[in-house]
Amino acid sequence: MSEVKASEGSLFIQHFFKDSNRALSYYLEKMNGYQAAKRVLTELTPDQVIDEVKKANLRGRGGAGFPTGMKWSFIPKQSEKPKYLVCNADESEPGTCKDRQIMRYTPHLLIEGLVIGSYAIGCKHAYIYIRGEYVREAKLLDEAIQEAYAKGYLGQGIMGSKFDLDITVHRGAGAYICGEETGLLNSLEGKRGEPRVKPPFPATSGAFSCPTAVNNVESLANIPFIMRMSGESFAKMGKIDKSGGTRLISLSGHVKKPGVYEVMAGGMTLRQIIQDLGGGMLGDKRLKAVIPGGSSAPILTADEIDVIYDVEPLQKIGTMMGSAAIMVIHEDTDLVKLLLRITKFYAHESCGQCTPCREGCHWMESLLHKMIKGEAKMQDLDLLVEVAQNIGGKTLCALGDAAAGPVISFVKKFRPEFEAYIKGQKKYA
Ligand SMILES: Cc1cc2nc3c(=O)[nH]c(=O)nc-3n(C[C@H](O)[C@H](O)[C@H](O)COP(=O)(O)O)c2cc1C
Repeated sequence: MSEVKASEGSLFIQHFFKDSNRALSYYLEKMNGYQAAKRVLTELTPDQVIDEVKKANLRGRGGAGFPTGMKWSFIPKQSEKPKYLVCNADESEPGTCKDRQIMRYTPHLLIEGLVIGSYAIGCKHAYIYIRGEYVREAKLLDEAIQEAYAKGYLGQGIMGSKFDLDITVHRGAGAYICGEETGLLNSLEGKRGEPRVKPPFPATSGAFSCPTAVNNVESLANIPFIMRMSGESFAKMGKIDKSGGTRLISLSGHVKKPGVYEVMAGGMTLRQIIQDLGGGMLGDKRLKAVIPGGSSAPILTADEIDVIYDVEPLQKIGTMMGSAAIMVIHEDTDLVKLLLRITKFYAHESCGQCTPCREGCHWMESLLHKMIKGEAKMQDLDLLVEVAQNIGGKTLCALGDAAAGPVISFVKKFRPEFEAYIKGQKKYA
């Protein structure tokens, strides 16, 4: 993991990579910790907080990019039922490791974000659903939460206000599907982690059938910054219209300096990220392809990387920013093998509820196996794409799309590599 110097205006990265930074004393002294929460709880109404977050143009950092302020405004103001704020710390999209840095080095930032968010939607008990593999981070969060209780930043009458909040850390058991928000909610309730039929959406019927907002770690950790600097200033940090603040990027694969980096939203192209942040190609090899938003994002060729790295520009060229995990691939990489590896993951992680995903993912995996073993015919390649097309958009959750997108894009952009296996020009090594 590379250590990165804070670039001008960076919010997070300057506080990462040093174990001492996670101490409460560091948070209070160097990050003006819990002051935003104090002001919010004593001076602002919940609606004022939501308005500020709306002005900030904070888009969800979990993958879908939905505006956080708008999501909070969907939670009914009057409700006889309790309301819940659930932090999605499942971080299960392959290639993604930025939420881990937040939890590891600035746990109090996330806790303060949860205090402010809970106040905004009227939640008195918030949950952090953390992936099972993050043992160390779960422990660090538990310790930080205990510290926050001891200092009066959590519990009854937080910081002299009338607002009460408890936070529970809930550990998952290592299933990708539990990152999908309704699968997560089922798992939180002790049920199988299977996505729910929507509607009803979590805003009206989420955790324990109560109104619920589910937000990613990075989304929530941005909230204290927004309340400190104002929504307008946060929005101005973003270099394109709809995206405020900065983005944490997990950069991996064939670059010289893989790591977690921070860029102004929309402030760099993919090429600049690879060269200026990643230090260029590993071994000075040629770039072959880039997966720009976690393994479910459709692949880009080396000619497509002059795109601004943000939601709309990536959508325009048929891919997505997803969880902002960029995987860089050099010329020596066998893309058929890589696609098989990705497809195997989705086949393994499909919860099995929806037939197209349950059957289709395994079917795609076995077709790719057949290709690699030199046993496939040319029509198998078309069949592979057809199976993918029959998964995308036909399932309860987006895991189906996540599995189909890579298959369709790999074959569309790198067809000769698949054909080489079929024609026997290439053998499995
Ligand atoms: C299969 C699947 C896996 C997902 N995994 C995650 C995850 O690990 N972390 C996350 O924050 N969002 C994940 N999401 C997105 C969540 O469903 C949800 O949109 C997100 O937590 C909302 O938070 P945000 O609005 O702050 O982005 C996943 C979605 C799908 C379909």
